[in-house]
Parts: sequence; C-alpha cells; structure tokens
Amino acid sequence: TPCKIAVLIGSLRQASWSRRVSHAIAALAPPSLQFDELDIGQLAFYNEDSEAKPPPEWVRFREQVRASQAVLFVTPEYNRSVPAVLKNALDVGSRPYGHSVWAHRPAAVISASPGAVGGFGAHHHLRQVLTALDMPTLAHPELYIGGVHRLFDEAGALNNDDTRTLLQRFLDRFEAWIEANAPRHNAEPH
Ligand code: FNR
Repeated sequence: TPCKIAVLIGSLRQASWSRRVSHAIAALAPPSLQFDELDIGQLAFYNEDSEAKPPPEWVRFREQVRASQAVLFVTPEYNRSVPAVLKNALDVGSRPYGHSVWAHRPAAVISASPGAVGGFGAHHHLRQVLTALDMPTLAHPELYIGGVHRLFDEAGALNNDDTRTLLQRFLDRFEAWIEANAPRHNAEPH
C-alpha cells in the first residue's frame, strides 16, 4: 500500500499557486506516495469551549491526519507569515491537550510566492510551529519558490525544467525522510 501523505495548502483560492505546486508534486511522485489534500477552509476557528462537543469537521480533520503517514505543507506568505487558515488548522489538530494529531508525524514545508523572496518568512514561521508540535521536518532541499507565477503553462502544468528537477529531488528526500522517521509516530501518542 502506498504511503499516505496529507497535504495542507495555506490558500483557499481555487487558482492558488501553492495548490498548483502541490499538484505538480503529486504528478511527479512515484506510485509509492499518495497525496491527499485536506480541506482546511471548513474548519471553524479554534475555540476551546467547543471541545465538549467538537464540530464534526474538526473530528473528521483530526481523523484524516491520523490516517496519514506524513504531512506536506505548501503555503503562500501573508504579511511575512503563515496564512491564518493554515495556522488555524494546526491549532485544531493540536488539541485537546495530550491528543495532538501532529506529534512525531514526518513533515515537509514548501513556500511559494510570485515575489522574489519565495515566502521565506512564512516558511520559517511555519517551521517554528512544527517544532513546537514535535514534527520531524525535512530540512533539505529548502523550497522557497519565488516567481511561482512564471513556472506554469496556461493549462496549469509545470513548464520549468529546473523546478521539475528540484521537486523530484525533494520527493526523493521526503520519501527517505518518511521512512527514516516512520516507526515513532504511532508508538508515543502525545
Ligand atoms: C499577500 N502576498 C504576499 N506575498 C509575499 O511574497 N509576501 C507577503 O508577505 C505577502 N502578503 C500578502 C498578504 C495577503 C493578505 C495577500 C492576499 C497576499 C501575495 C501573495 O504571495 C499572492 O497573492 C499569492 O498568489 C497568494 O498565494 P496563492 O493563493 O496563489 O497560493
């Protein structure tokens, strides 16, 4: 059975560049990796008062993450940080206290922007959060994808060979990272 990777996109836009990057990665991936985008736009803002009777979409989201072997984050940068919708999803998955769905789950981060800096600020704010959540996060290759709007053709397919090579290298490293970090995430629930 293929390794299930939950994909969280930090943009709700249908034509999102981050979403296109995630589709390009899924298209390049070997059959041993299966990418499933989770819908984080439906998650109510985290409110601890709701834990007595959690909204069904929180419960479903937490189950979806639990059913995955790894998590891929692909995000734009909003005002030099992580879009609120993505931070909210991380908060929802981290509670109730002691029952985080994130702990020990291997992760990787990609940021993308039409701008030259490639979402560097959002990327590292996100890594700070993943450290707090105890997610072993792939360090290299570092993917800050700048000028992302120039990398796709009109049909939405990747049209840049250097980026394709980089994404391929990223996939190889991520698969090895998931394998290397896999045994722990069911052993020690947080
Ligand atoms: C942006 N954008 C942006 N870009 C960037 O490189 N650094 C930034 O800090 C910001 N800040 C920012 C704030 C808000 C509220 C919006 C809506 C946009 C531009 C952003 O990179 C651009 O809109 C991307 O196309 C958004 O990503 P998706 O939706 O294409 O994935």
